Amino acid sequence: MADVEKTIEDLLTEGRTFTPGKKLRKNANIKNESVYKKAARDREKFWANFAKELDWFKKWRKVLKWKVPHSKWFIDGKLNVSYNCLDRHINTARKNKAAIIWEAESGESVTLTYWELYREVNKFANVLKALGVNRGDRITIYLPMIPELAIAMLACARIGAPHSIVFGGFSAESLRGRINDSKARVLITSDGGYRRGGIVPLKKNSDDALTDTPSIEKVVVVKRVGDKAEIKMKKGRDLWWHELMEKAHSYCEPEKMDSEDMLFMLYTSGTTGKPKGIVHTTGGYLVGVYATTKWVFDLKEEDTYWCTADIGWVTGHSYVIYGPLANGATSLMYEGTPDYPDIGRFWAIVEKYRVNIFYTAPTAIRTFMRWGEEYPKKYDLSSLRILGSVGEPINPEAWMWYHTHIGGGRCPVVDTWWQTETGSILITPLPGITKLKPGSATKPFPGIVADIVDESGKSIKEGAGYLVLRNPWPSMLRTIYGDPNRYVDEYWSRFPGVYFTGDGAKRDKGGYFWLLGRVDDVMNVAGHRISTMEVESALVDHHSVAEAAVIGRQDEIKGQAIVAFTTLKKSARHDDGMIEELRNHVAKKIGAIAKPDEIIFTAELPKTRSGKIMRRLLRNIAEGSVLGDTTTLADSTVVQSLKDQYEHLEG
Ligand code: PRX
Repeated sequence: MADVEKTIEDLLTEGRTFTPGKKLRKNANIKNESVYKKAARDREKFWANFAKELDWFKKWRKVLKWKVPHSKWFIDGKLNVSYNCLDRHINTARKNKAAIIWEAESGESVTLTYWELYREVNKFANVLKALGVNRGDRITIYLPMIPELAIAMLACARIGAPHSIVFGGFSAESLRGRINDSKARVLITSDGGYRRGGIVPLKKNSDDALTDTPSIEKVVVVKRVGDKAEIKMKKGRDLWWHELMEKAHSYCEPEKMDSEDMLFMLYTSGTTGKPKGIVHTTGGYLVGVYATTKWVFDLKEEDTYWCTADIGWVTGHSYVIYGPLANGATSLMYEGTPDYPDIGRFWAIVEKYRVNIFYTAPTAIRTFMRWGEEYPKKYDLSSLRILGSVGEPINPEAWMWYHTHIGGGRCPVVDTWWQTETGSILITPLPGITKLKPGSATKPFPGIVADIVDESGKSIKEGAGYLVLRNPWPSMLRTIYGDPNRYVDEYWSRFPGVYFTGDGAKRDKGGYFWLLGRVDDVMNVAGHRISTMEVESALVDHHSVAEAAVIGRQDEIKGQAIVAFTTLKKSARHDDGMIEELRNHVAKKIGAIAKPDEIIFTAELPKTRSGKIMRRLLRNIAEGSVLGDTTTLADSTVVQSLKDQYEHLEG
């Protein structure tokens, strides 16, 4: 953990603290630290109290059944997530409240009240049923950030058909792999999506993906860009969303789902080349996102809440849609990027809608920092009350900048640690009570038992080690779709009986947690989770590549950048053209987010005598740090020549 130690040194110098302001504390939903003790005393009761605030068709018999590593929550309870996000609000004063405010990249805006969203979801649920979708069937969704995405996922939840959302930035091949793994019957996509004024060809990608996907029977296509994309509709397979919706009936009885029925699956990268379908269930997941949205963001009835994540990632699932809507909140959904048409766009949106709660990623914050504080200064950001951060460790400088220049020094920054697997936020401040330290995610949410352990699994009270979770929580993943053994291997084998997160972390004297990044072969590039193996497989898939080793190198803006040390076949061209070709090949195999930032050709890779590639050494070379122990290398000259070559390239 050499680089982990380096980061700790930086963090140890961080002594600043920030206590919540008087007004915020006075009005906070949670004012009293006793919540931690109370939750610890009876965790099941703590979660059950949140569950009681939701609507159940049938109450659960028992809160938790736990047999390591399998948990079941709210046993025999029956509920429906779409009912909880919609129906339960429409007979209250929230009926005409904005559920989703959607801002298009063009500046066009659509508001869907709870009543309107309810109608659309009911109609689309009927559309799916008419297509023959049954409870339990999987539906793949490959859409841009448009209201139809929210409608589609809630409609799936209504009829009990688990959705598998694939981020629009993934390639046709990635889409195909995910469709085939889940054996989805229907794909929902659009003719295209807007991105920085250009068009993302989602329908074309879908057609390319669907060349070898026997499970797909129908494709529903949303018309988003019209004439701007040339598309073909395949007779008998492809159907227009708007045509189907025209005839759809406006009420669809919600399915009475069991607490443990799958709500959705979401693919994420693990330590092997194959993405894994993380399975989340109905009752526990909803309780987790409902509770954390309410407490972490100190959500108030009149708030306008904006989480900037794309719904294709877990943050969008939990904190653009399910958490906020279960709470009856107004959730802002933005189609575009922060720099279009100019780099003041996010702040223009905050001003336009008087956003109160703003939740984004450190990579975005560091980009804003680089652009300069003069951009946010041009806008009225006085409506902001709470700021959130998620997806990667936030460095103290970025935290301070966010706090000062976006939050005007008055808004608590809640740095929230969690994962696709955890479903909801697990380590976080509570804005009304937690003293903040810039760069620290502070403490586990009440009811969560996080710990830091050494190699042997022994708890480290103060210092750095591996982050683990000792107790089950309602929104934890239940399994990996179609691969129950991998679930056990990946999370429960490293330290028997406890959940291993894959992250390194440090605990300070005050018991605060400082996240230090992944300790496995998973990279975090601009908040996107990518496995080194996935990129390596994509590279060796190219006919010119003999071998490849990929590492994440520290990067000031993106957190990590992808560096690929590549051995080409003798006959291949070793030129810049080949570098571009390989980068594009990776984009084609995975998606543009996985394009290596650097590709270095090398005659050989450093390997141990048993043939294992020494990634640590490669990381050291790419980061220009001391090489460390090279005695286990089969051929130590390889490293020195690589180092010389790299330094020469960097020039
Ligand atoms: O390394 C941690 C990092 O993101 C990983 C989870 O990625 P993903 O499943 O894509 O979910 C991202 C959004 C929840 C974690 O293992 N991570 C997430 N939040 C933080 C973080 N690292 C440090 N601080 C955070 N607040």
